[in-house]
Amino acid sequence: MTDIRTLGEFIVEKQNDFPHASGELSSLLGSIKLAAKIVNREINKAGLADITGSVGKENVQGEEQQKLDLYANDKFKAALEARDQVCGIASEEEDQAVSFNRQVNRDAKYVVLMDPLDGSSNIDVNVSVGTIFSIYRRISPVGSPATDADFLQPGHLQVAAGYVIYGSSTMLVYTTGNGVHGFTYDPSLGVFCLSHENMQIPEDGHIYSINEGNYIRFPLGIKKYLKYCQECVPQDNRPYTSRYIGSLVADFHRNLLKGGIYLYPSTATYPNGKLRLLYECNPMALLIEQAGGRATDGQQRILDLIPTELHQRVPFFVGSTNMVNKVEAFLHESDE
Ligand code: AHG
Ligand code: MN
Ligand code: MN
Repeated sequence: MTDIRTLGEFIVEKQNDFPHASGELSSLLGSIKLAAKIVNREINKAGLADITGSVGKENVQGEEQQKLDLYANDKFKAALEARDQVCGIASEEEDQAVSFNRQVNRDAKYVVLMDPLDGSSNIDVNVSVGTIFSIYRRISPVGSPATDADFLQPGHLQVAAGYVIYGSSTMLVYTTGNGVHGFTYDPSLGVFCLSHENMQIPEDGHIYSINEGNYIRFPLGIKKYLKYCQECVPQDNRPYTSRYIGSLVADFHRNLLKGGIYLYPSTATYPNGKLRLLYECNPMALLIEQAGGRATDGQQRILDLIPTELHQRVPFFVGSTNMVNKVEAFLHESDE
């Protein structure tokens, strides 16, 4: 029993590594932990209660909202507002950024951006989903409402990022720029316990994750890369294995542990790719770099992109360094 380290203990321990740490970030991560437990409880009942399916409305990006999208959004928003460390949030499920009204929130230093429920189309079929979060220090003056500029910061300025995966077990994985650490939820204790300290992605992998149904409209470089993955070159471990769950969190988590690459290029329906820079790509990019991997839009490092809009989408290639390098080489070659 004595060597169990809970997420709460671990956060406090790490906080002591930073001089002048005030505990605010720890408290903020505590509210994410709490909301994750509440959402986890609800997801586990998904087949039993009237919580699956669509609400019959679309979000601002024209995607059908599921009941659990809105439930998770409400729970994370409420938990973040209640803890006084956050002045505002931006979410995939909100049309605009939300600035919290109470003065204690206006006096707070941080903003949080989130995809409250990632992979929500998988809920009704009992397949893994997740939550993704990204934390920045605000740039507007403390004491005032949060502004759009607080949310439109490049990813390399994130102070922390992470995800929760509601899978065969529930895990919370996060980084504060000092390694990536994973915690598995023990429902009998009601706590997240450290299970994966200092996660590192293998430099090479042999899993590729992409929605190949969109093949016909992929850029030429991606088509060539897919052919490369499928060629029979045993000394290179090719053909690679194809694995695609349709929940970024779940595909990313598997590739992080085993080595691999996740690709969402431009398609006919999504000319800039489907994934959102602020809620999905930036947090995953910080995590992957902290774990020794790479994330790019095909041209530039994701973390260097300057966001122009809240719900902006970008092509996304993330995973093992050598695999991302290879995709980039194919894209550049085909551009010439
Ligand atoms: P969300 O449920 O938050 O809208 O995200 C879904 C995303 C991502 O999780 C997943 O990898 C991708 O969309 C799947 O898209 P396709 O169905 O187009 O493959
Ligand atoms: Mn998502
Ligand atoms: Mn979502």
